[in-house]
Amino acid sequence: MANFETVTVNTDLLIVGGGMAACGAAVEAAYWAKKNGLNAVIVDKAALDRSGAVAMGLSAINQYVGLKDGDNTLTDYVNYVRNDLMGITREDLVASIARHVDGTVHLFEKWGLPIWKDEDGKYVHEGRWQLMINGESYKVVVAEAAKNAIGIDNLYERVFIVGPLMDGDRVAGAVGFSVREEKFYVFKAKAVLVAMGGAVHVFKPRSAGEGLGRAWYPPWNSGSSAYFTLKAGAEMTCQEVRFIPVRFKDAYGPVGAWFLLFKSRATNGFGENYMQTNASELEKWVPYGKVKPVPANLRNWLMMLDVMDGKGPIYMRTEEAIANIAEQYKDDPKAYKKKMKELESEAWEDFLDMTISQAFLWAATNVAPEERSSEIAAAEPYFIGSHSGASGAWVSGPEDLQTDETRGEYFWGYAHMSTVKGLFCAGDASGASSHKFSSGSHAEGRIAAKAAVKFIIDNNTMPNVSDETIEGLKKEILAPLDRFAQFSKNTTDPDVNPDYIRPKMFMFRLQKIMDEYAGGVTSQFMTSKVMLDKGLELLAFLKEDSEKLAAENLHELMRCWENIHRMWQAEAHVRTILFREETRWPGYYFRADCPEMKDDWKVFANCRWDPASGEWEMKKRPVYQIFD
Ligand code: FAD
Ligand code: ADX
Repeated sequence: MANFETVTVNTDLLIVGGGMAACGAAVEAAYWAKKNGLNAVIVDKAALDRSGAVAMGLSAINQYVGLKDGDNTLTDYVNYVRNDLMGITREDLVASIARHVDGTVHLFEKWGLPIWKDEDGKYVHEGRWQLMINGESYKVVVAEAAKNAIGIDNLYERVFIVGPLMDGDRVAGAVGFSVREEKFYVFKAKAVLVAMGGAVHVFKPRSAGEGLGRAWYPPWNSGSSAYFTLKAGAEMTCQEVRFIPVRFKDAYGPVGAWFLLFKSRATNGFGENYMQTNASELEKWVPYGKVKPVPANLRNWLMMLDVMDGKGPIYMRTEEAIANIAEQYKDDPKAYKKKMKELESEAWEDFLDMTISQAFLWAATNVAPEERSSEIAAAEPYFIGSHSGASGAWVSGPEDLQTDETRGEYFWGYAHMSTVKGLFCAGDASGASSHKFSSGSHAEGRIAAKAAVKFIIDNNTMPNVSDETIEGLKKEILAPLDRFAQFSKNTTDPDVNPDYIRPKMFMFRLQKIMDEYAGGVTSQFMTSKVMLDKGLELLAFLKEDSEKLAAENLHELMRCWENIHRMWQAEAHVRTILFREETRWPGYYFRADCPEMKDDWKVFANCRWDPASGEWEMKKRPVYQIFD
């Protein structure tokens, strides 16, 4: 067996992941832990400064409610999220995050994040809920605060977390390995907070060849949160609610600033505005087809209808939007020139702040946004419960937001704790609370960490895990290295070998199954029971072959486990789309055999993998309206 040193770390609260939710958790955990004589540790597979979805920076903070200024109420935000998710949302969770998010944004500003201000000193909004920022260093600012709070000795970077340690029905820590040194890590803890983001590359991306890693969602989030919580035996929710963002084609630049700030239109190849020409389709999806803004999946759907009718490509009318804004300065040539320059630089900055490759692509293809439209397209599906998808663990809400009706279903003692004792989730790791974005994920991390400390105080014993269990896990996790060492010399080309499969080929196989059978780009986001059954059959073979994964080095070992994580996310997804016998989010996926939305499916579709039996259970949970 690969001769790795075992490093054991004992702590009270273990935070796995180092993104927005984990950084929020670190700040809050440090405060409450210190007050109670406890310790907290944070582990990231990358370096905290530039890890997760915010690594490249962002150009906006997408959740700011403005409660104190009286701009909006909690009900306004809950209504927005409920409508955008076609009625399926946990209002207690959404409200719990929304009531704390403004405070988090104020902290960001205090820590040094530049938020745009107008002449009166007020935040510049991109849209009703979104604030414009100079966000190139957003993650660095947030990470610095987390590091300062938790202390550098409690930070483990470049350690890949593979899965949970369990003591019966209570979580007991996590295991993983360093991606730089031959070290196997065992973290033992009284509570664990999972915040390892969502998943990309479960579906075949549009990108090919050298561009393969260029997806909208960052390549380093590979379904570790879903794997961790599933393997611990936690109930999961909204595993069918993937997110399909419409983005500038091929480099995945954001569209929000164009639609909301620049008030741009998108039109088809014949210059028609699909939001108008296909508006009658919205009738089929009432009441959500009639709300403002039109839900993200329905906006997608109206666009997809044109693409399927051969009316593509679809264009973001940047030149028109810029001309419309500059129009009011037309009478003053100097002011006009200045405004045009300003708009041009805002257009480029939007990409340079968060999707630099889109600026490269514009430069490489001679695009001047003030002169020419740019193509947009629906991206492949992603799992990102913090954005406009909803997948994640089923977690308890806060006690004070429950009604008599919801208490038994939505509350079990500690806010944001999953159905597994001591296992807390935040950000993309927790489900049914969409539209939290970067700021809301940070706020949720804070709320969950505070609750986790309370859990530790109430259950202040170290769970037990035997040395034998740990040795077994070590053997299983490092096995791909041994397999490569044992068999790679048996063929002239180490990529082609009857005794193993390398992680990249494994990923291609997974992506092909998902793309073709579970409604990826190739199948125009369309699937059916027969297709899904076939997909499940192929996933079962893939799962068998996952025991033959081989790794040449540490980096490939990480790739092996990333792909096992993706495979579990994929299975939870396929099983849940299959379970929900309707189409509710047509621009995210379409069940050709159940093409309509049904009242009796206005429920959560939850799933759980039972660690004892290895079987999957599917169940419906009620949707309750708390705010109106
Ligand atoms: P992340 O911030 O992605 O963090 C996940 C963390 O887990 C990372 O540190 C990662 O390294 C770590 N990790 C993953 N796997 C492992 C493992 N196995 N072991 C250890 N660590 C692991 N929000 C906005 O407010 N405004 C925007 O403009 C905006 N734009 C966005 C643009 C893009 C392209 C994307 C993808 C998201 C955008 N968002 C935006 C949403 C925002 O980025 C997310 O909501 C937020 O980052 C979610 O926080 P998180 O902590 O759940 O995940
Ligand atoms: S981001 O994740 O890359 O920032 P994007 O730029 O598309 O996403 O959107 C940012 C915000 O604007 C999100 O809150 C999104 O829901 C919202 N948004 C984007 N386009 C529209 C639109 N056409 N109408 C309403 N809201 C929109």
